[in-house]
Amino acid sequence: MPQVLVASNRGPVAYTRAEDGLNARRGGGGLVSGLSAIGADADALWVCAALGDADRAAARRDGGRLPLADTGGQRVRMLDIAPDVFADAYNGIANSVLWFVHHMLYQTPFEPVFDTAFEKAYAAYETYNTAFADALAEDADEGASVLVQDYHLTLVPGLLRARRPDLRIGHFSHTPWAPPDYYRLLPDDTAAAVLRGVLGADRAAFLTRRWAEAFAACCADVLGAEVRRDGEALSVLHEGRTTRIGVHGLGADADFLRERAHRPDVEERLAALREQIGGDNRRTVVRVDRTELSKNIVRGLHAFRRLLEDHPEWRERVVHLAFAYPSRQDLAVYRDYTAEVTRTAEEINAQHGTATWTPVVLHVEDDFARSLAAYRLADVALVNPIRDGMNLVAKEVPVVSDAGCVLVLSREAGAHEELSADALSVNPYDVRGTARALDAALRTPPEERAERCKRLAAAATALPPQRWFLDQLEALRAL
Ligand code: G6P
Repeated sequence: MPQVLVASNRGPVAYTRAEDGLNARRGGGGLVSGLSAIGADADALWVCAALGDADRAAARRDGGRLPLADTGGQRVRMLDIAPDVFADAYNGIANSVLWFVHHMLYQTPFEPVFDTAFEKAYAAYETYNTAFADALAEDADEGASVLVQDYHLTLVPGLLRARRPDLRIGHFSHTPWAPPDYYRLLPDDTAAAVLRGVLGADRAAFLTRRWAEAFAACCADVLGAEVRRDGEALSVLHEGRTTRIGVHGLGADADFLRERAHRPDVEERLAALREQIGGDNRRTVVRVDRTELSKNIVRGLHAFRRLLEDHPEWRERVVHLAFAYPSRQDLAVYRDYTAEVTRTAEEINAQHGTATWTPVVLHVEDDFARSLAAYRLADVALVNPIRDGMNLVAKEVPVVSDAGCVLVLSREAGAHEELSADALSVNPYDVRGTARALDAALRTPPEERAERCKRLAAAATALPPQRWFLDQLEALRAL
């Protein structure tokens, strides 16, 4: 039976329907490469949810235990959760409530409204968390370590501890954590249940010190828990149990990125992008994001327009490459936001574009090779989220950049804690300030750019995914 278990909403494999059955496609990301660090022989199991119909069909075979051929050898158990329960838990609570709270995205005169629809969705969130806790309790070996991921699964540590007190349980939040005044928008019983759920873990870990402190402050404020400090070490005592608080700042995977960024498909995309940019030696301001409300893409476009208006000398001389890939399109507010991104980009092009210059080149179809090509040619990287757990783009661009880029970085991104010394910091709400930072970034002399970029890349790769994962596991086992 497995000694190491990982639980997350999205697993390492997704299925689509094909003529001859189901097609499996493996995904990437920090967790996938992190888990690979424990080696193929180690007895590890990844428990995840079926996200769509094809996943559900796969999850119905063999108790959800996926064929190793589909997963690249990784043992995966995919849970067949009823579609309406999944939709309410994932869209209704995880993405529309907890994500909004931690990223502080509400327009509070109108929302949130916690009423009957919320109660129904929250009941589904409990059911969905219980399905994970049951599966983990069933499959974990005696004394195994279980690493539970993110805001989808906040109740799992508490539920799992009640079922299997022998396990070592860790919870990791990949998002920011809201400060207490904002966290308390949640109904009081929900606010307490989520904290108690996470405190069911032996260790609760975060991407930065700031989010760890916010979590501890919420525990003190909402639950009356005791927060203990011993030097750097932080822990929360509640109802006779201690939960250690950890910080692990996930870094970029330099070896993978550098190799991948020099393959022929990326070279092809580079040539195509250069064509679109046009002109002689035009500079580029690059952004690559999911079209996510927290990423602040629209204000980024406004800042670029402001740059052209306040500094007309940049007209014809700079192009904004904005890649905004669709995300969470089941939610109306995300669809509206996506439309607003396109509308704003078109408006800027109509206002300022000329026969020979398109100021904003917007791409909305996800293409990893093209993203890497943009990273390579970026003169300036614009990373201006409203709030972000870490933001790996801020770490990836400096690693891949050919000639060295200047990073314009929101002070509300987790990455800011590690990169602020060599980035240009911005307040994400301040369009004028962001435009000024873009101007300063474009004016940075090449040698200074290259030097700063080298230091950014070093800081960005300090904790690569494999080490990030092993550190968490070792810290849990050492308790
Ligand atoms: C981002 C966040 C993660 C989160 C994920 C969910 O990557 O940083 O905290 O788990 O989004 O995205 P999904 O597409 O699965 O809803």
